[in-house]
Amino acid sequence: MDRRQFLIGLGAAGVAGAATLTGCGTDDKGGDTGGTENSAASSPVEGGAGGDVGVFTWWAEGSEKDGLEALEDLFKEDYPNDTFVNLAVAGGAGSSAKAKLAADLQNGNPPDSFQGHAGAELIDYIDADQILPVNDVIDELGGADVFPQDLLDRITVNDDIYSVPSNVHRANMVWANPKVLADAGVSEVPADLDAWLADMQKVKDSGVETPITVGGTWTQVQLFETILLAELGPEDYAALFTTEGDWESDGVKSAVEKYGKILDFANTASDGDDWPAAVDAVIEGRAAYNVMGDWAVAQFASKDQVDGEDYTYFPVPGTDGVFDFLADSFTLPNGATNGEGAKDWLRLVGSAEGQKAFNLAKGSIPARIDVPADDFPPYQQSAMEAFKEDTIASSIAHGAAVNMAWLSDMSTAMSKFYSGRDEAELVSDLGAAASTYAV
Ligand code: GAL
Repeated sequence: MDRRQFLIGLGAAGVAGAATLTGCGTDDKGGDTGGTENSAASSPVEGGAGGDVGVFTWWAEGSEKDGLEALEDLFKEDYPNDTFVNLAVAGGAGSSAKAKLAADLQNGNPPDSFQGHAGAELIDYIDADQILPVNDVIDELGGADVFPQDLLDRITVNDDIYSVPSNVHRANMVWANPKVLADAGVSEVPADLDAWLADMQKVKDSGVETPITVGGTWTQVQLFETILLAELGPEDYAALFTTEGDWESDGVKSAVEKYGKILDFANTASDGDDWPAAVDAVIEGRAAYNVMGDWAVAQFASKDQVDGEDYTYFPVPGTDGVFDFLADSFTLPNGATNGEGAKDWLRLVGSAEGQKAFNLAKGSIPARIDVPADDFPPYQQSAMEAFKEDTIASSIAHGAAVNMAWLSDMSTAMSKFYSGRDEAELVSDLGAAASTYAV
């Protein structure tokens, strides 16, 4: 199977079919410097290989920082010979970090490990020869006995596994303030987008100026992807990322129209506005709703909000039974200074204890299947169930469905729409991006 088919598979609605995706892809990659040579097995050294281990993420603030710190604390305990160096660059979804990372990789100055997204985004790094296989670490961790095969498939090219997944997030969740809803007379979860829009009107009529919050462009891309999913359903949505996709369809046009109506109920955001502020507006009762990945649940928890009392949640109306998927996965960069130290980090990230500590703080669910659900609060338990039962869709905003260049064009189109609200232009810009990048 070639790379083209691999990318098509990444958009496929059901993960079951993804089992056919292994063993495909680009040419073999070899390493080029002493730090990280290639995927040749190396044995862990008790207490760690030693030296600085620079870890690049965008988990620099709030609950995301807490998640990273949970891993850092364990790393220090388990690998006392290594020195963790936090290279985090603030900005949700890597809105600032990714440009810095791209420049560092381009200039041959990679960190020892960086956060990437399983799926299309990872393929960019593999194609650019910027990351190396980590088959040895994955094997040591338990391979397909502990990581779902369909997740491994999304990080596998040509039988080589690139990166170690730390977690799985769900992007299509509405986070809501029950008191604001009760005051507006909204008592039921809306069945579809039209019912939800009617509820937003009720909230507005009750005196809440902005029933729903948005942040900068990436949050708009994420909101829009969930509306696309609601209007198209997971199969037609998945087709959008293949040459079979119809970006001129009535479903896409209707999604654009409904998305515009939702924006009419939202605050005015500027590009730097990050997700925590959008969630905080819900916590503080200045808004009823925010659509955000389930990193939001960690924000509620970190502000002592009680599930079911202070906040509630439901899949974006019209997407019940669909899990809009993304996974963070840590890489071994080609040419990293301390490749052996980086592997210690990857061992920790992929361990059951690392996944428990990290995901408890982060709101996500473990990528590993052997971390007991009982250890997690109710939202994460429900997400674990949903991940098993639901149809899996790939997130656009978080690197699962489209590569970085395609996402960049889509983001430009969404940003233009935010200020200009020209529906026909958005449809045409999205179609143009797809015809440039769909393979
Ligand atoms: C995603 C990332 C999540 C979370 C989110 C908001 O891209 O995968 O872990 O960090 O951005 O920053």
